[in-house]
Amino acid sequence: MLLDVKNLRKDYTRGQQTFPAVNNVSFSMEKNEFICIMGKSGSGKTTLLNMIAGLLTPTQGKITINGTDLFELDDRQVSAFRNQHIGYIPQGSSLLPNLSAIDNIRLPFYLTKRENQTCLSYAQSLLEKAKISYLQDAYPANMSGGEMRRIAILRALICKPQIIIADEPTSDLDDESSEEIMQLLTEINQQGTALLIVTHDNDVARYSQKVMKMTAGKLLS
Ligand SMILES: Nc1ncnc2c1ncn2[C@@H]1O[C@H](COP(=O)(O)OP(=O)(O)OP(=O)(O)O)[C@@H](O)[C@H]1O
Ligand SMILES: [Mg+2]
Repeated sequence: MLLDVKNLRKDYTRGQQTFPAVNNVSFSMEKNEFICIMGKSGSGKTTLLNMIAGLLTPTQGKITINGTDLFELDDRQVSAFRNQHIGYIPQGSSLLPNLSAIDNIRLPFYLTKRENQTCLSYAQSLLEKAKISYLQDAYPANMSGGEMRRIAILRALICKPQIIIADEPTSDLDDESSEEIMQLLTEINQQGTALLIVTHDNDVARYSQKVMKMTAGKLLS
């Protein structure tokens, strides 16, 4: 088993009220699986993904990735673990504006201080595979929304993670760009990387093997 989420809960407080944004969620995922989570705005999808990516500490529950309990690790260990095992594509635009496409893609690799030249040629091969080599030296301000999204996907791939977690990877994109993004993600999945995607989009869900629905913090399969 690649990912195991058990009785996960996250409480937020707004004003006087504390409420569970994620409420007792359990599910698991095998290597190579492609799972979609759908649900209305505010149902807790991003909160759930952020916990699985080790970016947010749960109020309760447990997340195990490849047998490692994420929240038994300290902050530095979680970051290192995330960099090595998880490719995260956050909601919205997430590229650094002052870095070119190739440098945005290589950034997670620099953070792990691995050998630079290997990383450059791998980043270039990813750009080629995604058929966007022409963007290598472009800056985010000069890219379309779909192009930025594709660069963010390649950035998530640079450390060869076992799982890609994507939060609304096709939001704000036209049908054709969405399809291109989903073809790229599907190809990545077929080459052996598990995919966990949150989406509003029924067209995205049809690419996946399993769809789960999130409603008011609860996950129904
Ligand atoms: N830091 C926070 N403090 C308090 N409440 C929060 C915080 N972050 C999110 N929330 C609330 O938690 C609930 C779930 O938010 P979340 O961002 O997980 O929803 P979502 O399903 O991803 O929505 P969307 O589809 O709009 O992205 C919402 O009611 C939101 O207002
Ligand atoms: Mg969200």
